[in-house]
Amino acid sequence: MLVELRLATMKDSDLLLEWRNDAATRKASLSPEKVTKANHLSWFQSSLRDKDRRLWMAQVEENMIGSCRADRQQEGWLLSWTIAPDMRGKGLAYPMVLAMLNSLTGPFFAQIKSDNLASIKVAEKAGFTCQELKDEVLYFVREVD
Ligand SMILES: CC(C)(COP(=O)(O)OP(=O)(O)OC[C@H]1O[C@@H](n2cnc3c(N)ncnc32)[C@H](O)[C@@H]1OP(=O)(O)O)[C@@H](O)C(=O)NCCC(=O)NCCS
Repeated sequence: MLVELRLATMKDSDLLLEWRNDAATRKASLSPEKVTKANHLSWFQSSLRDKDRRLWMAQVEENMIGSCRADRQQEGWLLSWTIAPDMRGKGLAYPMVLAMLNSLTGPFFAQIKSDNLASIKVAEKAGFTCQELKDEVLYFVREVD
């Protein structure tokens, strides 16, 4: 399945907030509290301006299937990803993460809660290995090829 990434714009704001406040997204998040519209807007506007952050929307044909993010850190990029609630369980996260990996130069990092088995599988399939478990969060790394 061809998953294409495009950079997010202000028009994506409401959809991203909806996905962010979905119960499973919140459970998987390192900051699981519900986000208000005002807080989201301010986070989203500054994210779009941030030169050290890339925020993409992923689509398959016309359908928005998820979003992913990369934050530049001293040692590489910290990645995170979400599949739209009605698009989960269809094998879409792996090609979306691959598309993100292909658009940047590593090394890459990801932090995944230890009970998020689907996301752990996606990370491992995409070449990440787990370096550390701390406070129920797994720290993954994917070195440069
Ligand atoms: C986690 C998430 C990214 C996975 O994306 P997805 O496209 O729905 O995942 P898939 O359907 O491709 O499943 C990935 C793999 O995990 C497996 N899997 C799914 N649910 C599982 C579960 N509860 N236990 C074990 N394995 C599971 C799938 O069988 C698949 O394995 P395979 O590659 O061997 O076939 C997506 O469900 C999501 O966005 N969830 C909410 C937000 C989130 O968790 N984001 C990631 C934060 S780190």
